[in-house]
Amino acid sequence: MSKRTEVKAILEGYEGLIGQELTVMGWVRAFRSNRFIALNDGTSMNTLQVVVDFEQLDEEVLKQISFHACVKATGKLVESQGAGQDVELLAEQIEILGATNLEEYPLQPKQQSMEFLREKAHFRMRTNTFSAVFRIRHGIAYAVHKYFNDNGYFYLHTPIITGSDAEGAGEMFRVTNFDIDKPPRTEEGAVDFEQDFFEKPTNLTVSGQLQAEIGALALGKVYTFGPTFRAEKSNTSRHLAEFWMIEPEVAFYDIFDNMDLAEDFCKSLIHHILEHYSAELEFLDQRIEKMERNMPKEQRRNMGLIETLRFVVDNEFERITYTEAVNLLRKSKPYKKGKFEYGVEWGKDLQAEHERYLVEKKFKKPVIVRDYPASIKAFYMRMNDEQENVPGKTVAAMDVLFPGIGEVIGGSQREERLDVLRERMAEMDVPEEELWWYLELRKFGGCPHAGFGLGFERMVQFITGMGNIRDVIAFPRTPGNAEF
Ligand code: 4AD
Ligand code: MG
Repeated sequence: MSKRTEVKAILEGYEGLIGQELTVMGWVRAFRSNRFIALNDGTSMNTLQVVVDFEQLDEEVLKQISFHACVKATGKLVESQGAGQDVELLAEQIEILGATNLEEYPLQPKQQSMEFLREKAHFRMRTNTFSAVFRIRHGIAYAVHKYFNDNGYFYLHTPIITGSDAEGAGEMFRVTNFDIDKPPRTEEGAVDFEQDFFEKPTNLTVSGQLQAEIGALALGKVYTFGPTFRAEKSNTSRHLAEFWMIEPEVAFYDIFDNMDLAEDFCKSLIHHILEHYSAELEFLDQRIEKMERNMPKEQRRNMGLIETLRFVVDNEFERITYTEAVNLLRKSKPYKKGKFEYGVEWGKDLQAEHERYLVEKKFKKPVIVRDYPASIKAFYMRMNDEQENVPGKTVAAMDVLFPGIGEVIGGSQREERLDVLRERMAEMDVPEEELWWYLELRKFGGCPHAGFGLGFERMVQFITGMGNIRDVIAFPRTPGNAEF
């Protein structure tokens, strides 16, 4: 069965293959004039033209060569007579591996909406758009591991099931093997988690950071790359209930080292895709261009996809403090004209509309905002000294904001001072009993350290230009949806 030549290998190295008899297998993208099959096997953006001699072919077989049928073809590879392709395969044998009855098949050979395709996630990867997105997604994942390996980091597998809330935001999915209709109860009537599988309450992880800190304080430089879960009911084009996060954590790093790492890392991922996935990027670039033709001018992007990616790689990210961001926003046109939906006030979190203004209007490039008010950030972020012209307490936090996406990275320098950390935890109602080990890291051989989390899907969205996060993960999990 496996004696086949892949379409990519043929299209990229046909000089050495012309005149040879080859077997190819794949899915029919189109069948023209009862003669020309455009065959795609997923290895490449492009299709191989397979030429069928319909007069010689069994009629039953001929009838089954249709859109998205799976076929095996054997024949000689020759230089193509027609325009549009360099080579074609003259099929001597055609076998239908899996027919597709078009009357019942949900996909049709025409443009179909993203919303419709989302419901057909078991077939959507056969389309040009989704196969391009998922090849690039793989490429970015590879580039993540390559970057860290090349730079001396160790990949740490942090647990999926935990007993702690790393972000202290309470957005967790409970893990239990109780019969939920009748869980054992204590005498007081509360659910008795001592009788549960782990003998305590547990949940799916929201972040591997706290365990990554354990790794950093022994191995120096570590990173995690795994699924994380958030039970936040945000039905937006940027939120998933299950998403993948990459979290480097580095000993002896401060917030400035952390920002340098974030910028260099983002650029290296984009660079890798520009270098290795140009066919996919060109296809996606044209796809956006076509979509934008029907949009009003002010909604169109002012740069194409590839141009945007090059721009990000070639230019330095802007770096500002939260306080500077607030001052800029309050001086901005949309603020003065009352165009922002949410208020801008020192101490309040920046909303997506504010971030978009800074990135897309003011600086027109990625922006790293740092030193946020302590009251709106997580308990583990390092408290800054009082600063001049800053009205309240800040922490050494940073968010990296990207055009069209908003926040792709959130990170910080970590609070390494035991007394300050305990004070913060008390203030924010983070229970010490749950995190006794996190506190001990500060007690024994601690040191300054920092790290961040990159939302993998948001980066895939940025690099592919896809408008909705549900279209860059194979099987999205969102409120009300866990199909497939
Ligand atoms: O800013 P967040 O919540 O930071 C943390 O979890 C830290 N523990 C990271 C660290 O310092 N090690 O999440 C990090 C990133 C966000 O910037 C965003 O890109 C992504 O994760 N993210 C989501 N992506 C998709 N769907 C969601 N619901 C997301 N929530 C966060
Ligand atoms: Mg964040």
